[in-house]
Amino acid sequence: MNIFDFYNGHTKVYGIIGNPIEHSFSPVLQNTILQKMEFNGVYVPFRVDEKDIKKAVEGLYALGFEGINVTVPHKISVMDCLCDIDDTAQKVGAVNTLKRTENGFKGYNTDILGLKKSFAINKIDVKGKKTMLLGAGGAANSAAVLLSQLGAEKIVFVNRTKEKAEALRNHISSFYTGKTDVISFDDIYTYEKPEIVVNATSVGMGEGVWESPVKDSSFFEGVEAVFDVIYIPWETKLLNDAKKYCCKCVNGFDMLIYQGIASYEIWHDTYMDDNTAVEIKDALSEYFLKGGKR
Ligand code: ATR
Repeated sequence: MNIFDFYNGHTKVYGIIGNPIEHSFSPVLQNTILQKMEFNGVYVPFRVDEKDIKKAVEGLYALGFEGINVTVPHKISVMDCLCDIDDTAQKVGAVNTLKRTENGFKGYNTDILGLKKSFAINKIDVKGKKTMLLGAGGAANSAAVLLSQLGAEKIVFVNRTKEKAEALRNHISSFYTGKTDVISFDDIYTYEKPEIVVNATSVGMGEGVWESPVKDSSFFEGVEAVFDVIYIPWETKLLNDAKKYCCKCVNGFDMLIYQGIASYEIWHDTYMDDNTAVEIKDALSEYFLKGGKR
């Protein structure tokens, strides 16, 4: 790459808003993609307070930003600042990608696109399957919409706070015709065995790194595939337990990479070929597994 062809008067600007933002992997991911695609662009992080979200979005538009990613805690509140929202993002009820249009930013949800791609490349086939979804927060919302769109036979919602699982089930049932149920974590051991389990709780990361929301690992016996949205640590206790029962285990790293690639594709009205995507993923997993050092 020739530096003189980049970061000049033609440079397009992209960014991410969230709070906190310092730990976001997106600047590394998106700048890697821009470089790989030899695109004259730059991607920067912004910490934005909740009270400033409208002003921030208006300011980014006025400054000519081409695309923005949105992370916690703005994924829902940002929806009031947009000129249009894509149907899938509307169903998920959250937006993580803004694309510049003539009238303002249009909102998309690429978390669900990243998860869909991860299921595809890791050969997790949920069509006609009995699925169990652990968690009922933001990540679980995307996963639930995807399970419904991919034609799961049944979705069983499991959450510590049962009311939130009920609310998610009711929302999904407004467009999903498959079977649903809501149970507690205590019930999962005696309930009909699921074929696919998706962990969308935050248990197993941060301070609870040695914890799993599934206390008795024999639950995994006979389960076909287990997906965990977490990617730090690379292998959660939940995935480690599931592996012992020979389940197919997939962490959230591919989802992370492919949601970023999906944002790039939306911003540039393009489709990235599989080989380029894999090269980007391999470069970033190496960087990531070294603890973020080049
Ligand atoms: P995200 O946006 O990453 O999905 P979130 O919206 O805060 O984050 O959701 C976190 C999920 O992890 C929730 O389902 C939460 O359960 P509650 O709805 O009961 O809060 C779940 N979770 C967090 N800590 C948990 C714990 N110690 N045991 C079980 N579930 C937990």
